[in-house]
Amino acid sequence: MDPQFPKVNYIGNKRKIVDWIVDNFPIKEGKVLDLFAGGSSVSFELKKRNFEVTANDALYASLVVNKALIENKTTTLNKNDIEKALKRDTDINLREKLRWLDNNLFYETEVDELAQLVSYSKKITGYKKFVLQSLIRRAMIRKLPYSRMNIDWRNIVKLRDEEYSYKKYGRKRAYHNESFENHILKDLDSYNEAVFDNGKNNKAIQMDGLEAIKKYGNVDLIYIDPPYPGTMNKYNEFYGTFDQIYNKNIEYTDLTSSSNFLIYLENLVEEASKKAKYLALSLNSRSVPNINEVENLLEFYGEVTVLEKKHSYQVSGKENKKENYEILALVTLYK
Ligand SMILES: C[S@@+](CC[C@H](N)C(=O)[O-])C[C@H]1O[C@@H](n2cnc3c(N)ncnc32)[C@H](O)[C@@H]1O
Repeated sequence: MDPQFPKVNYIGNKRKIVDWIVDNFPIKEGKVLDLFAGGSSVSFELKKRNFEVTANDALYASLVVNKALIENKTTTLNKNDIEKALKRDTDINLREKLRWLDNNLFYETEVDELAQLVSYSKKITGYKKFVLQSLIRRAMIRKLPYSRMNIDWRNIVKLRDEEYSYKKYGRKRAYHNESFENHILKDLDSYNEAVFDNGKNNKAIQMDGLEAIKKYGNVDLIYIDPPYPGTMNKYNEFYGTFDQIYNKNIEYTDLTSSSNFLIYLENLVEEASKKAKYLALSLNSRSVPNINEVENLLEFYGEVTVLEKKHSYQVSGKENKKENYEILALVTLYK
């Protein structure tokens, strides 16, 4: 059976249009570097189609997903592991270190549970570690309103009040109040079933994009899906808490401001042109810089083709009428 991509829940993911993206790649086999891999949706599709994939992202919150689903060939996690994690004596040191989360992101008793899971996930080895850590990440997201880690506590409390939520939004969103354990157990099978071997040595890395090209850019194609200025792009705020919990933050170039975006992109493309044969770059009709500016830059380095995919967004009210479509710029790099 075809491996199914599990519920990762990553902002800006390409899950819904991944077929369109990969169908349009100029190659059907070979090595691909997914430079801003995020929630792994494109890397997973590439793995399914038997490419050899290197999945990179600056965040540890992304690395754990890429380790679990892309690099991992066979290792799954048992229900027992979750039980074992929760039965162990409290890791007092770690619990103290996670005090800053108390009544800041979760209630104290919830942080007790989280600390147990984190402590165990740090101790186990091999890919089990990463399957568990991906599930912990997903459980954290499920428990948080708006599925991100930068909502202030006052709002969290308000939105986790099931009666308030029902009155205001017609939905109780009771899943915010379920335990970490419940969430992990619900998702366990789908994560395990997504583990497969495509016969290639796929890799997951956590580096700044430019550094990743320098070290791992000798591939057939580099796929570039960066956070564009002006969109929902504050990934460090969305998921950086997870990196902090594991103490795995790295230094990387902040792309959220438009002033340095084009300069960084040019550096990426220039470096890529020394190593890879093709580039594929995702953007959309609202991206800043827009496709014309990006195309001008790309044309200096290779032959460019621009594809567009209209897809309807379910946005309420007037916004609905505004057109928003996905763009894929394909570049055959000059040598
Ligand atoms: C639009 S998301 C990628 C989504 C992904 N294609 C998917 O389908 O889930 C952009 C990603 O770039 C990462 N990122 C931001 N700045 C970076 C940098 N300088 N180097 C590497 N990754 C970076 C963010 O952490 C985020 O995961």
